[in-house]
Amino acid sequence: MRKQIAAANWKMNLSLLQAEELVKALLETDLLLNEKQLAIFGVPFPYILPVKQLLNGKKNVFVTAQNCSANKNGAYTGETSAEMLESIGLKYVIIGHSERREYHHENNAELAQKVNIAMDHHLQPIFCCGESLPIREAGTQNSYVEIQLKESLFHLSADQIRNFIIAYEPIWAIGTGKTASSEQAQEMHAFIRSVMAAQYGQEIADTISILYGGSVKGANAVEIFGQPDVDGGLVGGASLVATEFAAIINSLKK
Ligand code: 13P
Repeated sequence: MRKQIAAANWKMNLSLLQAEELVKALLETDLLLNEKQLAIFGVPFPYILPVKQLLNGKKNVFVTAQNCSANKNGAYTGETSAEMLESIGLKYVIIGHSERREYHHENNAELAQKVNIAMDHHLQPIFCCGESLPIREAGTQNSYVEIQLKESLFHLSADQIRNFIIAYEPIWAIGTGKTASSEQAQEMHAFIRSVMAAQYGQEIADTISILYGGSVKGANAVEIFGQPDVDGGLVGGASLVATEFAAIINSLKK
């Protein structure tokens, strides 16, 4: 079975003390991860090392950055490179979150560069895609998401796409409390897998973990993660509450 993943995206929240308390509280709950299940914490840059330290030695638990630069190094004030993330021992990086696309104008071509530079530095991208409400209402979400995948990922080789991680996050469900129904999630996840299968073959497409993001919480995780093409979640608000995120981790498919 492909990897089942509960990924937290803390976004720009918490003080260092609050972050440490959250992780400690989570470690006190029983996290039941088998060898195919991962928990990944997408934390703000200043907390990567302290959180990594707290999670040290925990099996199948990782810290990730929420972004990296499309450039290698140099005069890019305020940016953080993939090389830096590799140098502190990270294995994952979130790329192309809708908030980066919207507020920082990241487009599909730039995200392709970020994917490349991350992979050059042995970071597995958690590549985000997903449509806005007007696109969903117009019924054109499939072609919209297909273009996001094509323009940012299709230059990769089959070997690079094997075991890839994609997060489908409908923008209308992010932070709104309005979750996509499990049928809507399954429908889009199956579509994403079919797009990847058409390009890379079914065998490779079946290795890709496709996470759902948008108002996932303890109370709806079992139903959403239970869908055949949903391989876990990328979680914002509920990942800031230890008992909620623990429940989400424990809702991953066995
Ligand atoms: P919420 O879980 O707060 O809706 O956020 C989803 C998200 O954007 C995760 O990246």
